[in-house]
Amino acid sequence: MSLYPVALRLAGRRVVVIGGGRVASRRVSGLLDADADVVLVSPTVTTMVQALSDAGRIKWLPRPYAEGDLAGAWYAVAATEDAAVNIAVAEDAERSGVFCAQADDGLASSAWTPAVGRYDGITVAVSGDRDPGRAASVRDDVVHRLQEGSLPAPRRRKEPGVVLVGGGPGDPGLITVRGWQALRDADVVVADHLAPQALLDELGPEVELVDASKLPYRRSMAQEGINELLVSHAQAGRYVVRLKGGDPMVFGRGYEELLACAAAGVRCDVVPGVSSAFAVPALAGVPVTHRGVSQEVVVVSGHVRPDDPTSKVDWEAVGRLRGTLVLLMAMTHLAAIAETLVGFGRGADTAVAVICDGTTSEQRTVRTTLAVVAAVVREEGLRSPAIVVVGDVVALGAGPVEAIPDR
Ligand SMILES: C[S@@+](CC[C@H](N)C(=O)[O-])C[C@H]1O[C@@H](n2cnc3c(N)ncnc32)[C@H](O)[C@@H]1O
Repeated sequence: MSLYPVALRLAGRRVVVIGGGRVASRRVSGLLDADADVVLVSPTVTTMVQALSDAGRIKWLPRPYAEGDLAGAWYAVAATEDAAVNIAVAEDAERSGVFCAQADDGLASSAWTPAVGRYDGITVAVSGDRDPGRAASVRDDVVHRLQEGSLPAPRRRKEPGVVLVGGGPGDPGLITVRGWQALRDADVVVADHLAPQALLDELGPEVELVDASKLPYRRSMAQEGINELLVSHAQAGRYVVRLKGGDPMVFGRGYEELLACAAAGVRCDVVPGVSSAFAVPALAGVPVTHRGVSQEVVVVSGHVRPDDPTSKVDWEAVGRLRGTLVLLMAMTHLAAIAETLVGFGRGADTAVAVICDGTTSEQRTVRTTLAVVAAVVREEGLRSPAIVVVGDVVALGAGPVEAIPDR
């Protein structure tokens, strides 16, 4: 007998889950993803189910199953640890004409739960003839191939517009799945010099690549030029990916580009990225917070000297900080910044880490103190791009952490 596959649209429809253990929790997650109206019956529940109930996302009836609980249900899940209860639920479901997945007895179930994976609007559901491990393995393989592109999933025509993609701090494996998908769909990619260059090598020959770091204007003009470029490509009907280093909204001028698109009536989506502010220290073995050591982390741009009248940073407040300070774009004015911090009360012996070219094969970390950091940077010839971390977390010193291998 073969199965008849069907995809249920459960949004707003009542689904009754009997049981509050691990299996039930997992089913509830999937049902909530489908926007089902979940009622869960069980005297006890996992912490996760309790949290969902507290948040009003499911209705939890804290009692044993009772006949009649399936009234009005479109679908039921019998997932208690008591086989007799599961059988009773399945029998009630059968009588009421409600499909029921009985977690502990596939043969008795009127419905089976497949292994599910998703990719860019596609749902992959695999049933492995009651071998869940086999089903999961096939599901993983299909989703992986969809993600890497060896199994093509041509999209319906992409809507023209711009998508601001955070490429992460440099290691190409640190872009998000959504960001990577956008790159794969791009007609035009406008990339910054800090965007992971390895990702650009993967673009097809038909994709127009614009190196925005080489636009021949002064800095402010360059930004205007980039805005115009994004808008004009989108208005010409193209799907434009604006690829930036780290996160587009963290010192990335992403919002300026978004506003320029909005002003021109061009659709602009945002795909956040992994910011160098946190990822670079993490992979250099510096946690920006650590229980009992630092309960605060402040990220500051050091591209303007502290005594510059145009500076918007409250250096006095930053100097009073006792937690972690993460400085970006701070290499040029590091001597003035360190002096200012000490002047406003930060200890001269505070530990400092300078991490250059973080997450790439060139990554280099130097640990020192606030008193001498500028001299050390000079002597060691350290250069941008670099993250400077100030605070006791630096002294924890676990050493560099292996980056997760690339896809
Ligand atoms: C214009 S900001 C862009 C920040 C970016 N939007 C982000 O979220 O990571 C550029 C600064 O980010 C820091 N940075 C970016 N990538 C880095 C990396 N791989 N290693 C060290 N610092 C990096 C440096 O301080 C650099 O001067």
